[in-house]
Amino acid sequence: MSSQQTILTGDRPTGKLHLGHYAGSLAARVQLQHQHRQFVMLADVQALTDHAHEPQKIRESIYEVLLDYLAIGIDPNKTTIFIQSLIPALPELTMYYLNLITWNRLKHNPTVKLEIQQKGYGEEVPAGFMIYPVSQAADITAFKASLVPAGDDQIPMIEQCIEIVRKFNRLYKTDVLVEPKMVPSPVARLPGIDGKAKMSKGLGNAIYLSDSPDEVMRKVKGMYTDPGHLRVEDPGKVEGNPVFTYLDAFATDKTKVGELKDHYQRGGLGDSIVKKYLLDVLQAFLDPIRQRRAEFARDRDQVMSIAYRGTEVAREVANNTLLEVRGAMGMNYL
Ligand code: TRP
Repeated sequence: MSSQQTILTGDRPTGKLHLGHYAGSLAARVQLQHQHRQFVMLADVQALTDHAHEPQKIRESIYEVLLDYLAIGIDPNKTTIFIQSLIPALPELTMYYLNLITWNRLKHNPTVKLEIQQKGYGEEVPAGFMIYPVSQAADITAFKASLVPAGDDQIPMIEQCIEIVRKFNRLYKTDVLVEPKMVPSPVARLPGIDGKAKMSKGLGNAIYLSDSPDEVMRKVKGMYTDPGHLRVEDPGKVEGNPVFTYLDAFATDKTKVGELKDHYQRGGLGDSIVKKYLLDVLQAFLDPIRQRRAEFARDRDQVMSIAYRGTEVAREVANNTLLEVRGAMGMNYL
C-alpha cells in the first residue's frame, strides 16, 4: 500500500449528485479516505461562475450535496468536508496565480471551451468563468494536494494547475507548491439514460442518488438501448448501449453481466429483461444510500455543522499555505 498523500476534490453544488458523479469520482473518494488525508470541497464559488443568477439554489444544493456525500459513505471523521466561499485564502491565491498564466492559455482550455459551447455563451463568457481553472489551482495547491480523483473532463484543469505550480516554484525559487496528479476514474464517463455521451443535470438525462424507487423505475424503463434491436430475436449491440454500460459500472455479478451480453448479442434477449435486471441492480445499490440519506436528513443543523466544522480545519491549512506563498514572494510584510 502506498504512503499517505493529500487529496483535494470537490463538486459545484448546483443540484443533487447523480450516478455519473458516483462512477466518476465519488466511489474513489469513499475508498481513498481510508488511506489518505482527504479534503472534499463544496465549490460554491466555482458554482457562481455559471450560476451567478441563482445563489439561493447554490445554497440549497450545498445541503443536498452534503447529504449525498454522507449517504454514500464519505465519513466526516476521515474526510474534511468544507465550503469554498468560507476560505478567503482561496481567492487570494487565485489573484496571485492569475499573473502566472496568459489569457491566451485560458482561452485554450478544452473543457472550458466545451462548456462555453454547451452553455451557449458565445462572446458573453463571464470573466469569472474563464478563470475558474486558476481558482481550481488555488483550491488544489492550498491543501498541497498531490492527488485529485476526478472525471476525465478535469484533466485540463490538473494540467493548468501543474503549469502554475511549476511557474510559481521556478519564478520565486521555492518548493512550497506541490504538483498534483489526477486519480483517473475506473469507469469512463457514464452516458445518460437517453444514450447521450454524458449523464448531466443540464441534459435532463440523469438518475440521481436521491431518486425514489419509482423515479428510478420510470427512468430505467424509458432508457435508450440499441435502436437496431427491434425484435427480441434480433441480435443486439452492447457497445454504446447505456443499459450495459450501467451494468458494467454497478452490477457486482460480472459473470451474469457477461452472460446477458452474450445472449443479447446472439439475439433472443429482450430489452425489458435486461432492464429489469438493471433495475434490480440499481435499486440494490441505491436502497442503502436512500436510507442513510433519509436518516441524515432528519437533522439539517447537524448535517450543516459537519461542513462548518470541516471549514474551520480547512481554513487553517489554506491560511498556512497562503503565508508560505506570500513568504516565497517576499511579500511577508508583517
Ligand atoms: N470543477 C469541479 C466541478 O465542476 C469542482 C471543483 C472545484 C474541483 N475545485 C476543484 C474538483 C478541485 C477537483 C479539484 O464539479
